[in-house]
Amino acid sequence: MARKNNNLASAKRAQADEFYTRLEEIDSELRHYRTHFSGKTVLCNCDDPRRSNFYRYFVRNFRELGLKRLITTCYRNTEPNLFTNGSDTHGLKLVYDGGDDSNPDFDQIADTVQPLRGDGSFDSAECRALLEEADIVVTNPPFSRFRDFVALLMKYKKKFLIIGNQNAITYKEIFPLIKENKLWSGISMNGSNRWFEVPEDYEVRPNAAGYKEKDGHRFLFVNGVRWFTNMEHSKRNLPLDLYRTYNAEAYPHYDNYDAIECSKVAEIPMDYDGIMGVPITFIDKYCPEQFEIVGASESEGKGFSMGLWHEASRVSQPLVNGQKKYKRLFIRRIK
Ligand SMILES: C[S@@+](CC[C@H](N)C(=O)[O-])C[C@H]1O[C@@H](n2cnc3c(N)ncnc32)[C@H](O)[C@@H]1O
Repeated sequence: MARKNNNLASAKRAQADEFYTRLEEIDSELRHYRTHFSGKTVLCNCDDPRRSNFYRYFVRNFRELGLKRLITTCYRNTEPNLFTNGSDTHGLKLVYDGGDDSNPDFDQIADTVQPLRGDGSFDSAECRALLEEADIVVTNPPFSRFRDFVALLMKYKKKFLIIGNQNAITYKEIFPLIKENKLWSGISMNGSNRWFEVPEDYEVRPNAAGYKEKDGHRFLFVNGVRWFTNMEHSKRNLPLDLYRTYNAEAYPHYDNYDAIECSKVAEIPMDYDGIMGVPITFIDKYCPEQFEIVGASESEGKGFSMGLWHEASRVSQPLVNGQKKYKRLFIRRIK
């Protein structure tokens, strides 16, 4: 029974990872990084070239971006296609060095797709060798493997632009990278939910909220998604315009943290020099020349608050007059 439940749970997790990024989303973000790509090899390592819009975007913009090479790899080739009957567990690889970009769809590229020896997992030896060759990784990886995915990019010291869930901000593996300015948020998806395409066999009730069908395609509204990157962009160093001034009533001190509560990023006081607790969406506005991120609430990980927490309270969420607040980042103005 336990085994059955485990199988069900992993099938659900696998289905939850199966949603595809629309070309418009890719274009809206990528346009801010055009200067980064000249002479570079790009790797999309969670992308089936037969359906990935990351692949399409880079083929179509290959010349304009001045790319050297595009490598796309895909995990487990389980769709019936030219090579298999759908039972194959090998991954696929496609290398594009420029040329005919008039039709980057499958019929054009079928003879250039090669089966991989292994399953094409981004962390397999074969795919790590391709990662080594690449300069920049751009993809929407499986959310269930986001931590491992980022750890691998860090290990190989790669530039990246990837999509993840905003909750990743406080993962214990990710938050230290944000704090140390090794990873930050992109530009175009901030503070919002987005439509992604889902495969034909995606289990969803036809009238479910956040689901729609259009032109024979199926779409799901995915909550709290973000671009995460370590590439500079024009918004990163723009200081937030602050207009509020501090007063103790509007910005109460927490019962159990040495900091004041500021429940809206737009209302961060411009004249407070101490530590402030702010919603995690602060990272969308984070300018490292204006603020330092000191820590996060202990609800996200033990020791995350860097000593701001009063452990004797035994409550890890920040409290104001006994009322629990949602997870917070702690920041301090740089004078
Ligand atoms: C969120 S979807 C995005 C797909 C594609 N990158 C896009 O944006 O359209 C994540 C994809 O990663 C694939 N995947 C799951 N585990 C993987 C692994 N270990 N290595 C590489 N890809 C994986 C899933 O099959 C899924 O297609």
